[in-house]
Amino acid sequence: MPFSVKQQLSHLKPNLDAQGFAFIEAEQMRALLLEVGSLDDWAEFADSWNDLKTDSYMADQGRYRKRRYAVYGADGDAQVIRAEHQPHYQGVDYNRLNGGVERWFEPIAKSAGESKSMGTVLDYARRCFGERAPHTRRWHIEVHQFRIEAQTGQPGLPTPEGKHRDGVDFVLVLMIARHNIASGTTSIHSLEGAELGAFTLTKPFDAALVDDHRVFHGVTAVEAVDPEQPSFRDVLVVTFRGSRDRVRLALQPQPRPDEAVVTGKVDSQWRKDFTEEQRQKWTHRLGNLVLMPRYPRSDAHQR
Ligand SMILES: [Fe+2]
Repeated sequence: MPFSVKQQLSHLKPNLDAQGFAFIEAEQMRALLLEVGSLDDWAEFADSWNDLKTDSYMADQGRYRKRRYAVYGADGDAQVIRAEHQPHYQGVDYNRLNGGVERWFEPIAKSAGESKSMGTVLDYARRCFGERAPHTRRWHIEVHQFRIEAQTGQPGLPTPEGKHRDGVDFVLVLMIARHNIASGTTSIHSLEGAELGAFTLTKPFDAALVDDHRVFHGVTAVEAVDPEQPSFRDVLVVTFRGSRDRVRLALQPQPRPDEAVVTGKVDSQWRKDFTEEQRQKWTHRLGNLVLMPRYPRSDAHQR
């Protein structure tokens, strides 16, 4: 009996909703994905991890990470559509090691980006996260294919920046493959630093869902079991950042969140709709402008 999306949503309540994260085992995750769409081309999809490119932006000079990157978008609950290729950007607040610069990664190959498996994973994530943020008008979705390699005497670091948040709303991490790898344990931490849980994605389809506003996440180094053999950990990371109707409505002649901040009158709705971190961030960026999502850029350029 497959798990229905409704069952899954209730299953996630005590986890993702209550704790800010959930670990879903492969069997359940695969069943959930199959409810949403096809995984017929999974083998080809997973094989595309064999053609990733070395991440040359590593501030630690490491060459153990390969990746490709793509951006997608979705209006509310509409279909997820790939956007033009663009750089990945994280502020230094979120990534002290590699943040603060636009990083142009190689694009995800067309065949993988348009595969049934990719579409199914993104549609699942949109449904899952959309359920938790029903007022989202538009999703900015970033997709990363990662391969972390371990070599003799040189472990690979899945999260070289350490425990961190991605600076988005939600994160899905999906295990694609582990080959000759030990460790690579994911840990989840409260905003105060307390460890809330730890688990290891071991099988293809093992997955982690994270509410990025509420918890930090990190992954321990991976090591080769047999140092004579190739050793790698492949994952798909999908992040969702939403913009709300309320943000767009700021164009209307009504009290705006930025006005509230500029005048020092931070009302309760402003506090309710935005985290302290977001308020701080936008207070210094808004001026007389309105809040705008980064996606899509072509849209932004028309304003
Ligand atoms: Fe992350």
